[in-house]
Amino acid sequence: MKSINRISLAAFAAIAAGAAVANDSASPALDAEKVARGKYLVTIGACHDCHTPWIDGPNGPELDMSRMLSGHPADRAIASPPAMIETPWVVQVNDTNTAWAGPSGVSFTANLTPDRETGLGNWTFRSAKDTIRSGRHLGRGREILPPMPYIMYRQMTDEDLEAVFTFLQSIPPIENLVPDPLPPMVAQAQ
Ligand code: HEC
Repeated sequence: MKSINRISLAAFAAIAAGAAVANDSASPALDAEKVARGKYLVTIGACHDCHTPWIDGPNGPELDMSRMLSGHPADRAIASPPAMIETPWVVQVNDTNTAWAGPSGVSFTANLTPDRETGLGNWTFRSAKDTIRSGRHLGRGREILPPMPYIMYRQMTDEDLEAVFTFLQSIPPIENLVPDPLPPMVAQAQ
């Protein structure tokens, strides 16, 4: 009985949401759909792999979802690149999976949460689209460093990119100031 009630309530809510969609393209129902699609794309697109810090769990390294998508932790300062490795090895990565050292220097994964000071809180969809499509910060700043796979992500449709951005704007803001990248090891050695 209870479940029947729930189903009819859900059906009623869906009809009400449908009416809202018909009247207003910016309805919460539409946004909820976009957020869900964005969450799915962020999950299968592996954004967490690099942008959510890893911690040691009972069964080995796991994503620290209390710092979801907040990028390289500011309290894990890295002052200089590690010693160079020999070919064919190219890249080294730290234990939070957020600091990457290779021929381009050391890059730190960005804070993708909507924190206004340290994350994407002041970004518009245009900022995200210009960045991912061009591989440059906001479409005109410095080139985005490896291993951010924008070459793949820039093939996303506008619709999917918008869903990703809408989801990112819906998650809890986390204050975490990610450091600037360090110059390449070669330059350091000279
Ligand atoms: C293999 C690791 C990796 C994956 C996977 C990854 N990123 Fe990144 N991302 C990075 C790194 C490293 C940076 C910082 C690069 C730099 O400083 O130039 C970055 C930077 C960014 C930036 C900031 C660009 C700017 O100009 O400020 C955005 C936005 C971003 N990533 C979004 C995403 C999204 C969305 C996904 C998933 C669809 C994703 N990333 C997946 C490594 C990754």
